Amino acid sequence: MNSFHVRLCRLLVVKGRALSAAVTVSRRHSSSHRSVFHFYRSMATFGDQFPAKRPQKQTLRRVKTKESRSKRGDVHGPSTVYVQVVGAGSRDSPASLYVFSEFNRYLFNCGEGTQRLMQEHKLKAARLDNIFLTRLSWENVGGLSGMILTLKDTGVPECVLSGPPQLRNYLHAIKSFSGPLVDIKLSVRPYTEEMHRDETMTVYQVPIFAKSRSDRGRNSSKSGRSSPAQSSPKRDEFHHNGRVDESGERRVAARDASLVIAFVCKLHPKKGNFLVAQAKELGLPVGTAAIGPLITALKDGKTIVHDGKEIRPEQVCTPTDPGPVFIVVECPSEEFIEGVCTNQQLRRYQTGGAEDSAVLVVHMTPESVLETDQYKEWMERFPSTTEHLILNEQVCTVHNIRSHKIQTQLNMIHPEIFPELKAYKAKQPQAALHVPNVRAECLLKFQLRPVMEWQRDAVSSCSSEEFVKEASEVTNFLEEVEKCRRTCSAEERELSVPGEKYPEVVFLGTGSALPMKIRNVSGTLVNISPSQSLLLDCGEGTFGQLCRHYGDDVDDTLSKISTVFISHLHADHHTGLIKLLYQRQRALASLGRPFSPIYLVAPAQIMAWLGQYHDYCEEILSHFNHIPNRFLCDDAEVSKPKTHSFIQAMLKKNNLEEFRTCVVRHCKNAFACSFVHQSGWKLAFSGDTMPCDAFVNIGKNATLLIHEATLEDELEEEAVEKRHSTTSQAIGIGMKMNADFIMLNHFSQRYAKIPLFSEDFSDKVGISFDHMKICFRDFKILPKLIPALKTLFAEELEEMEERREKRELRNPRGSSNEVVSEQKMFRRSEVERGAKRDQEEEEEMHSIDTKRLKTS
Ligand SMILES: *[C@@H]1O[C@H](CO)[C@@H](O)[C@H](O)[C@H]1NC(C)=O
Ligand SMILES: *[C@@H]1O[C@H](CO)[C@@H](O)[C@H](O)[C@H]1NC(C)=O
Ligand SMILES: *[C@@H]1O[C@H](CO)[C@@H](O)[C@H](O)[C@H]1NC(C)=O
Ligand SMILES: [Zn+2]
Ligand SMILES: [Zn+2]
Repeated sequence: MNSFHVRLCRLLVVKGRALSAAVTVSRRHSSSHRSVFHFYRSMATFGDQFPAKRPQKQTLRRVKTKESRSKRGDVHGPSTVYVQVVGAGSRDSPASLYVFSEFNRYLFNCGEGTQRLMQEHKLKAARLDNIFLTRLSWENVGGLSGMILTLKDTGVPECVLSGPPQLRNYLHAIKSFSGPLVDIKLSVRPYTEEMHRDETMTVYQVPIFAKSRSDRGRNSSKSGRSSPAQSSPKRDEFHHNGRVDESGERRVAARDASLVIAFVCKLHPKKGNFLVAQAKELGLPVGTAAIGPLITALKDGKTIVHDGKEIRPEQVCTPTDPGPVFIVVECPSEEFIEGVCTNQQLRRYQTGGAEDSAVLVVHMTPESVLETDQYKEWMERFPSTTEHLILNEQVCTVHNIRSHKIQTQLNMIHPEIFPELKAYKAKQPQAALHVPNVRAECLLKFQLRPVMEWQRDAVSSCSSEEFVKEASEVTNFLEEVEKCRRTCSAEERELSVPGEKYPEVVFLGTGSALPMKIRNVSGTLVNISPSQSLLLDCGEGTFGQLCRHYGDDVDDTLSKISTVFISHLHADHHTGLIKLLYQRQRALASLGRPFSPIYLVAPAQIMAWLGQYHDYCEEILSHFNHIPNRFLCDDAEVSKPKTHSFIQAMLKKNNLEEFRTCVVRHCKNAFACSFVHQSGWKLAFSGDTMPCDAFVNIGKNATLLIHEATLEDELEEEAVEKRHSTTSQAIGIGMKMNADFIMLNHFSQRYAKIPLFSEDFSDKVGISFDHMKICFRDFKILPKLIPALKTLFAEELEEMEERREKRELRNPRGSSNEVVSEQKMFRRSEVERGAKRDQEEEEEMHSIDTKRLKTS
């Protein structure tokens, strides 16, 4: 059975399982019979659908060529290899590196937002062979859960993670919310295993232990187990709840913050090129069959005799490239300096003769470490030919051109509602280093082969003037903006008393499923008062969004967040929480304010993830007081005095009169919430759900309803299947609720820039964008922005309309199988237009988005 068949069978098994799940659903809700039918239909067409999908096909082809290459025993080193910066290490974009060769692609570290960055910059995640992780810290692994889900959805059969042995536990923690992840083979290659060797290079993992614990670390590494974590007061209580791991045994905590892994990568040698002209001159039989063996011998470095003449290899061949070495090292804090600087394995590449000395050292090292004498001296011990690349918070680079572009253009429509993006600037000056060094920039490359050199051609610059100019050239845009300004200022004048500034709502992520160019995943900040904030959902990258929204004020903002509500455990709603908690702790410390835990209002099941992360990865349980969502449901009995007191304290802290939740129609343990402030306003937040009466009930008479509107009206069936709402359903709920105003959000990524409008839009409805900031007095203004928005995005809207019309033509309303036909449509219309890369990529994303919606 070839790999194609294996994969196909596996997919069928998965489909079968999904099918039985759908059947269970339909027993509960007879209304979704149609979706089951839909399922059978898609299964029937599945056979010919499958090979047509580009991502899987490409991946399979790649796996096959690889297999045949290794069977042939090809061991020619790669001829093109470069190291490229993905995340440059700024506070909102953790350090990560991409390494390319014609045979393999690698990623070093995968913090939050890495996947999104790779997508924006067309570094295909689906091509990754290996992910190397220097340390088990959220900075390095925070983006892995999203990345793995995407690799799985793209059809990547296998993913190998190298680094700390605790990565195994981290994968378990991910599975606590993602499910079993059966259709991707995940494995961990801990540093204790032998080196990794593939067609491109050999990678040696070098463990480095923190000074204070180095002895213990070394001993534990021999047994392959790590040292136990320091116990935290909460842990025991946590275990007391009787949670056990999969094997049924009570888990023993095994965190190890004292370990980092450096990676020494040595490219395979590449034989020199045969110089035809020179060979001819020397009288070699170029162009005849006899030349073959001669070339082989010469390339192997042997001297030959031809026509009685001795010919040395260097006369007709360029020299063999023995294979350069590059090193990736993280030295996260002072504790590790000793370990890095005295490490014998690394030392070999400083003075180990010309052949072995590193040509490039990538330092993921903060300024406070770089400026120590010991680290400086260590850097100086490399030969002067070694290049040093530094990734840390002191970088100055733009990662996200596309969001700058859209934000600059939205800002033209309304400067307060769409404020310009900001950047957090590190306060510390750059250390004065005595070796030449290069500071990272997003997409900067160091090429190792064919020619060793820095390459800046991919580094992009970002010009607001360009963006403004581009928008100004859109037909009618400036006129619409002007009209919008006039109506808005008229509205504002009408308000005799200036409206209240609080509460203020900042949309941080308004897309569903996976973070993309224009929309990040769920996160909504509610600033209740100048000193109190509450966060509704916290998808991957929520902290980064706060950074880009508040710039240098991000610490102040974080310090005010006292409560986080998590609606349900889909990756686009909660995987940004851990980073938010660590960054909040850092903010409080740097502002000199006392630490206090947040109130975490979240499904009880979130503890499986947080608990495993706490036990094996990093301390997290002391950062929050958990209030399980179900205790805020109307009929709940709160028997535990502690939970009761948390609820009271949470209400008091936020000046709230009530905070209610209800179970919604989405996945298991999915909740919506509503809360009422002492001054009388009420906010209702849907999380993800199909239209839900329980939610109408708890949201009655809300001042503001924030409701998901994942799909356009015509995709009602898909909405049912994936248990989301359409635009009109969301508006309908708002009407039933008697909400004063409805903000739609959580749009499918296929509506990247703007969702399709429906006839139900009224002057009570607004649509959200990332970084949009509104307060209640803006309700009158928001609908007035829509004409300008429609003009700015006219092209996108037209395209989406076209797609919708074609779909209608082929499948009059009510017939099933819309998704599949939409995909076909999409593909065809793209081909018709002769459009290339961008659309291809979007199409690929569209298909991932279609799959992922089920779990978003
Ligand atoms: C989404 O997050 C990425 C980082 O993960 C960031 O670069 C980008 O600017 C964000 N998008 C928007 C629209 O803010
Ligand atoms: C580590 O192991 C060595 C012997 O292998 C032993 O002498 C030493 O005391 C151990 N250190 C610790 C901290 O256990
Ligand atoms: C909602 O408002 C209406 C009047 O506008 C009132 O009759 C009704 O009692 C209110 N419902 C709740 C639950 O507050
Ligand atoms: Zn979602
Ligand atoms: Zn969801």
